[in-house]
Amino acid sequence: MKIAITGANSAVGQNLLTHIGALGDVTAVAGVRSEKAAGSLPSAPNIAPTLISYDNPNKLAVALAGCQCVVHLAGILIEAKGTSYQSANVDATQSVVDAAKQVGMDHIVFVSVLGADPSSHNSYLRSKGEAERIVGAAGISSTIIRTPILFGPGTAGADALLRTVSSGKARLLGGGRYVMRPLDVDDLSNTILNTVRTNPSGHFTHELGGPSPMPYRDLIERFAQMMGQDVTIGSIPIWLAKLGAGVTRRLTGGGISPEVIDVITANEDIAKNANVDLGITLTPLEQTLQKIIDSEKVGI
Ligand SMILES: NC(=O)c1ccc[n+]([C@@H]2O[C@H](COP(=O)([O-])OP(=O)(O)OC[C@H]3O[C@@H](n4cnc5c(N)ncnc54)[C@H](OP(=O)(O)O)[C@@H]3O)[C@@H](O)[C@H]2O)c1
Repeated sequence: MKIAITGANSAVGQNLLTHIGALGDVTAVAGVRSEKAAGSLPSAPNIAPTLISYDNPNKLAVALAGCQCVVHLAGILIEAKGTSYQSANVDATQSVVDAAKQVGMDHIVFVSVLGADPSSHNSYLRSKGEAERIVGAAGISSTIIRTPILFGPGTAGADALLRTVSSGKARLLGGGRYVMRPLDVDDLSNTILNTVRTNPSGHFTHELGGPSPMPYRDLIERFAQMMGQDVTIGSIPIWLAKLGAGVTRRLTGGGISPEVIDVITANEDIAKNANVDLGITLTPLEQTLQKIIDSEKVGI
């Protein structure tokens, strides 16, 4: 089958394409916004890097033509000059849905986030909730997968772990007492591929988290132990971090905002984990952490 992936150069996209490159029954139109991004993609005969723009759904439809399913990954947590939640999370999703309808796609898979809600007071969660609403109203079968922080080589979460532990001094927001439920990015890719293959009819929203919820400070300690690295853990008051973020943001127009800090420091609670419904065996956390350490050693 032929599928399209938006934001194919994202950390999730790179991982998903690596899985697809090893398959014989899936070909992928890997949608990116620049030649540079196209050059960063895994290379395989069944992967076609394709330049796309979200400004014009008609042109996007040309790129997506012939695909049965689109996996929509483009999206941001941190706004920057020229990239807002509205453009990256909401408008891009509307364009993808419009293009998918135009070419008569069977299914949309959308990777969202725990806590997405169109009526949230948090602008990031609100934009993801708005995107979910757009996908749900498409009139095409769709599967929304809400995830917590993703761990795996190349993910922002893994980069933060490596940076924090390697420094030897971890100054964690609120002492890192918030509970995270990291999901292995390989598990997410396998879930996406299962969904693409089974092509369920209707509209579904799943929450998929990893197997081991734990406070971030415990996660740092466990990772440091596995790396054989000493780390001292200190605390930055959340109110102070938010104050600093607010000032920096006003000065630079981008970067981590107080709202992003709220997202990062929220407990990643899941009422019912969807791993069984989605046919996924979750990777044990130790294995996920070991993959991050191994990839760092070989410089992936
Ligand atoms: N990483 C996590 O822990 C996590 C957790 C929950 C949900 N998610 C969701 O999973 C998806 C992939 O996440 P990721 O961390 O792998 O992403 P990522 O590595 O940060 O990549 C972001 C992607 O979004 C694209 N993008 C940025 N601004 C855009 C805009 N204005 N219009 C269209 N595309 C734009 C980027 O393209 P350019 O390179 O061209 O800018 C890139 O392909 C996202 O939707 C994210 O919200 C991720």
